[in-house]
Amino acid sequence: MSERLVTTGADERERAAESALRPHGLDEFVGQKVVREQLSLVLDAAKARQAPSDHVLFSGPPGLGKTTLAMIVASEMGAPLRQSSGPAIQHAGDLAAVLSSLDEGEVLFLDEIHRMARPAEEMLYIAMEDFRVDVVVGKGAGATAIPLELPKFTLVGATTRAGLLPAPLRDRFGFTGYLDFYTPEELVQVLRRSASLLGVQLTAEGAAEIGGRSRGTPRIANRLLRRVRDWAQVRGSGIVDRNAARAALEVYEVDERGLDRLDRAVLDALCRRFGGGPVGLSTLAVVVGEEAETVETVAEPFLVREGLLGRTPRGRIALPDTWAHLGLTPPRDAPVGAAWQLPLDADPAGVEPQEPTG
Ligand SMILES: Nc1ncnc2c1ncn2[C@@H]1O[C@H](COP(=O)(O)OP(=O)(O)OP(=O)(O)O)[C@@H](O)[C@H]1O
Ligand SMILES: [Mg+2]
Repeated sequence: MSERLVTTGADERERAAESALRPHGLDEFVGQKVVREQLSLVLDAAKARQAPSDHVLFSGPPGLGKTTLAMIVASEMGAPLRQSSGPAIQHAGDLAAVLSSLDEGEVLFLDEIHRMARPAEEMLYIAMEDFRVDVVVGKGAGATAIPLELPKFTLVGATTRAGLLPAPLRDRFGFTGYLDFYTPEELVQVLRRSASLLGVQLTAEGAAEIGGRSRGTPRIANRLLRRVRDWAQVRGSGIVDRNAARAALEVYEVDERGLDRLDRAVLDALCRRFGGGPVGLSTLAVVVGEEAETVETVAEPFLVREGLLGRTPRGRIALPDTWAHLGLTPPRDAPVGAAWQLPLDADPAGVEPQEPTG
């Protein structure tokens, strides 16, 4: 699914393009007012004490700025940044090697920290709290743990799944910043900044048009901007205005609310084929010609968040907005609203819907 224009993830090539657009300081970082203020207090206090900052965790969906903030922590502290990630640390020894090579004050960024192996996690607890690792020498009954002092460092963790972090690890972060989706106005600011870095002329209407289709996510905003710029250069006047944005995003099948072809196919099947549901995930997936997992992980989170799809124990249902978005009138017996919004919806991943019987 990497060609999908509104995917929240990014591949290698995209990450390279992104790094050119990354804000380098907190003052350049758009939005997330609460996190920005909290973080600047933590960092300013550490600087005043001339000590490394407390450990910091950033949590939130992909593309909202966790890696960017991790880099900002290092640059605000004037400290070097060391990067690794949960999946790269499969043994305690991998972590011991990283930790023991840190210098005083260095910032260690562990991306996807929830994917670290359990034994490494336990080593990390001690390292975070006591700045020490116990290196085990020998095996079995004769094994001894030799404590190794570590320099004071700052751990910055990032996770898209804070709920998967064991409590002892979560508790050892002095500060956790929860990133939230951006408002359309904030995305306009992100786009303005990116346009000026890319040397692209962007009008206010062009920015609003792209911002509104970016699913609250700066990564998507920047990606759409690049595609609209292409259109403007090849078929337009070179200026990214409303017309260019609309025409380009029509080519890429991203609609006014940021839904793409797959999203719309899901909603369309739900409403036209199943009268608004409830319909089981696997049935829905077959009709749109996708794997159930793709529908569930790629399309649904955004649709649920937008109130365009409901998940219930009996299956997926259309909501009033779904019909409106497709320009359809809901049939009288369509499931609507509150009665179907069971508390289970609060944790959609935990719901395993049944195929409707009969
Ligand atoms: N607040 C912001 N202001 C300006 N640009 C931003 C902001 N947040 C993110 N971006 C841009 O969005 C892109 C993605 O951000 P980043 O890589 O930090 O996301 P992430 O949360 O680490 O995503 P992932 O979970 O996939 O690792 C970057 O190119 C960055 O420049
Ligand atoms: Mg990241």
